[in-house]
Amino acid sequence: MSPFEEQSEIVRQEQLTPEIFRLTLKAPEIAGTARPGQFVMVRISSCYDPLLRRPLSIHQTIGGKQVQLLYKVVGLGTRLLASMHSGQQLNLTGPLGHGFEFAGKQAICLVGGGMGIAPLYFLAREILRQTRPPKCMVLLGARTAAELGPLPQDFLDLGVTKIHLATDDGSLGHHGFVAELLPQHLAPDLHWTACTCGPQPMMKAVVSQCRQQGWECQVSLETMMACGISACLGCAVPRADLSGPYLHVCKDGPVFKAEEVAWL
Ligand SMILES: Cc1cc2nc3c(=O)[nH]c(=O)nc-3n(C[C@H](O)[C@H](O)[C@H](O)COP(=O)(O)OP(=O)(O)OC[C@H]3O[C@@H](n4cnc5c(N)ncnc54)[C@H](O)[C@@H]3O)c2cc1C
Ligand code: FES
Repeated sequence: MSPFEEQSEIVRQEQLTPEIFRLTLKAPEIAGTARPGQFVMVRISSCYDPLLRRPLSIHQTIGGKQVQLLYKVVGLGTRLLASMHSGQQLNLTGPLGHGFEFAGKQAICLVGGGMGIAPLYFLAREILRQTRPPKCMVLLGARTAAELGPLPQDFLDLGVTKIHLATDDGSLGHHGFVAELLPQHLAPDLHWTACTCGPQPMMKAVVSQCRQQGWECQVSLETMMACGISACLGCAVPRADLSGPYLHVCKDGPVFKAEEVAWL
């Protein structure tokens, strides 16, 4: 389905931590068709700085009419976004890309690191909404407890019963990396599908754990993106066998089977 371009009114801007914000927008066309793992390109400024739209994952849709984004302030675009308030308008293009595949799986483990947690909330919600939901485990990691903010509780409020946390500084949950939780918590007798999003080294470690156990793994890549619609070729990543044309994260992803892409 072709993406929509919507002039969207901000319904709510919430500051969850000093750097993390949750933005709710009226965007009925995008919300009506979005799938977990897809993203939108946000035009933040009507002038030339920043010129390019910024890619943000769909954190969830609400009532098929609203789109919610979860973002961290890291630079000019996200800083401007954080200064906006309800009633203001933003131009969105989406839903873009391919999302996660979760139907018919026996057991799914969501592994999120940092802002990679953003698309996994929508995924957890849709997994739990299935008539016969699979076993669902959520593993979340961040540098500190403060960085996770209210996100673990949000997953619990969805009805996720199995959630484990890891922080780099040990301020909450396991003291270490979130990928280290997989062998500790995933029953080896089940056929798990891991769905992961976060920093590249974290995803690489998750892919490696899944390979060792023979589990499926889907990865959501967050490369730099200039257009989001397969026009600039700036989001190219090499294929696993390093042959053939490059894959483009905005069109072929952002979610890939781990074995499709090269883990350099
Ligand atoms: C498909 C996709 C989905 C994304 N979803 C989310 C999301 O849900 N929430 C969220 O907070 N962020 C998400 N990102 C990252 C987000 O797009 C960038 O953080 C944002 O574009 C930065 O814009 P800026 O103008 O604030 O920063 P800039 O001034 O453009 O850059 C500031 C710093 O951020 C780094 N940066 C910029 N883009 C990225 C990127 N794609 N990945 C890693 N580092 C980057 C730059 O290298 C620089 O150091 C996503 C990226 C992609 C490709
Ligand atoms: S971001 Fe332009 S081709 Fe993917």
